[in-house]
Amino acid sequence: MSNSFEHLLSKRALGMRKNVIREILKVVSQPGMVSLAGGIPAPETFPIEDLYRINETVLDRYGAAALQYDLTEGFAPFREALAGYLANKSISADAESLLVFNGSQSVLDTLGKILITPGDIIALESPSYLGAISAFSSYSPDYVSIETDDDGIVPQSLERALDQQPVKFLYLVTTFQNPTGRTLSAERRKEVAEIIKTRNALVIEDDPYGDLRFRGQPAPALQTFAPENVVYVSTLSKIFAPGLRLGFCVAPPLIREWLYRAKQGADLHSNTYAQALATEYICGGFIERQVPKIIELYRPRQEAMLAALESHLPRDYRWTKPEGGMFIWVEGPPGVDAEQIYWRAVERKVAFVPGKYFYIEPDDGLPTMRLNFTRVDEATIEAAIATLGRVIRHNGG
Ligand SMILES: Cc1ncc(COP(=O)(O)O)c(C=O)c1O
Repeated sequence: MSNSFEHLLSKRALGMRKNVIREILKVVSQPGMVSLAGGIPAPETFPIEDLYRINETVLDRYGAAALQYDLTEGFAPFREALAGYLANKSISADAESLLVFNGSQSVLDTLGKILITPGDIIALESPSYLGAISAFSSYSPDYVSIETDDDGIVPQSLERALDQQPVKFLYLVTTFQNPTGRTLSAERRKEVAEIIKTRNALVIEDDPYGDLRFRGQPAPALQTFAPENVVYVSTLSKIFAPGLRLGFCVAPPLIREWLYRAKQGADLHSNTYAQALATEYICGGFIERQVPKIIELYRPRQEAMLAALESHLPRDYRWTKPEGGMFIWVEGPPGVDAEQIYWRAVERKVAFVPGKYFYIEPDDGLPTMRLNFTRVDEATIEAAIATLGRVIRHNGG
């Protein structure tokens, strides 16, 4: 008897994409593999010692309230703490305008749920964060790609896209983008804000990496230039602990109302205890001490990777030199197939992500690679890039 229930699956489920990176990265857990592939924090950055104290404070201060059902919009002390934290970054948000979610991934999914009718057009910078593409794709949109260069999306390309078709929203990672590490320049932020304001367009600004700045001056969030047109999305995953699943957003009032309704139906509210821990992490001053420590761990790793790329990659390869974040984006000359390089590198125990997976068009990005520098130490990075260099030369790239 067949027990396949495929015929029961909804049209929506059939539109969901499998995460192709997960498939290709199955090899990463092999013993001895050096992974430059993931996008996850180094475990040394988790404030485990501090958490013993934070735990006690949470139980003393909030008691049963930290374990109880709570508001859909999020634990009130956490929203207050977040509003203060965001004010220091001049992001316009008060506790009432914030909504807390189970990671920023859940914000992206819920935005897809309330905004996308199948066939709607979503604008994405090219390349774009794969997790956002997976979240939105469940709701069956079509995509239009916006050109990018070293300063982020090209404003003229955005104008053309918005003028040629009805675009539901534009999704952007404005600072230290995943996958390229690029940052939308301060000038461009103003230009993009003008473009979206004059067309009354909606932008989702996803900002998980902005706090991981190793050098240079931060640019204000796009949201500060166009608060009525931007949903600002961020997370504590890269500056506290991703396992706590704490993401949040600040949205224009109508979008906020519908996000609220959708979240109420989906999960009632996010984990109260995790929000209470994060409240004390912020209000107890732990975050101010921890973020510089994270930066001090990552900065030399990134410098080691940049230096190793300079020493070991052929002259006709280019790469980004981000001022922070977790990724470097490498681009080989036309004709190179980074997936072939990937399989040969894996044989020599080095893994990365071929960049083509971050594009909507199947033939785009073939010679590109995303390299993560946060998980391994400097000496291992130097050795891994030396291996990659040898593989590339051997590959004829
Ligand atoms: C650009 C971007 N957005 C969102 C996320 C999801 O983060 P989380 O759901 O842990 O908040 C990530 C994770 O790597 C990311 O790179």
